[in-house]
Amino acid sequence: MENNENKSVDRRDFLKFGVLTAATALGSTNKAFATGKDSSGGVPNNLKPPVQKYLAKKYDNLLGDGLSGISDNQLKAHFGLYEKYVANINDIEAKLKIIDPNNPDTLSYRGLHVEQSFNLNGVILHELYFGNLGGGSKEPKGLLKKMIERDYGNPLNFLNHLKGVGKVMRGWSMAALNYRTGRIGIYGLDQHNQLVPSLVFPILVLDVYEHAYMVDFGTDRKKYLETFVSNINWKVVQDRLELALTMPYGEHITA
Ligand SMILES: [Fe+2]
Repeated sequence: MENNENKSVDRRDFLKFGVLTAATALGSTNKAFATGKDSSGGVPNNLKPPVQKYLAKKYDNLLGDGLSGISDNQLKAHFGLYEKYVANINDIEAKLKIIDPNNPDTLSYRGLHVEQSFNLNGVILHELYFGNLGGGSKEPKGLLKKMIERDYGNPLNFLNHLKGVGKVMRGWSMAALNYRTGRIGIYGLDQHNQLVPSLVFPILVLDVYEHAYMVDFGTDRKKYLETFVSNINWKVVQDRLELALTMPYGEHITA
């Protein structure tokens, strides 16, 4: 069954989208890491330096005529919330750096770690959400379309699942490549850091917190879900899927 299902998404698709090339590049990086031949304390020189601080991204492209049915007032209020998460995670990580893990104040140490994942995911999920809105392709194409058809039959059914999860969750509905199965799963989160699945790569993220739609839609979440779907940037979703596939999926992932 699985072999038949995979026939439509075969090696030619991966070559077509340059995924194998990217996977090879990733393999080279891992190899360099394993050799440890470098002059920077064990970290290979060819690795990109890590990001030291979160900087809020700008999504001005969504303002004006960027989106259909979602107002600038709604978006600006939402941008402000996202920027608060960016400030919070920087603050939390700075505080965690100076705490002695051998002798912490237990309550504040625990509190900071609870807030760490909440605010970190508040940044990441909002960037994925704003990033997959506006412009680009208006429908799934290529490998993305084939994988949606394989896993959900057709794009309409896929979106019905995404919206269905969006109706019942308090925070998020998201489609993500599951690295254990290689399928596109749809997952629901009640908060940024609650019910988050492991080893999945989000490709399409839908914010269903009231703050995402209250200004424009009041309590009419159903109308907001339809408006969100009409504004999906499928090119971004496709790019994320191709990036996700540069890491091979399968049973080895939990070895
Ligand atoms: Fe939000």
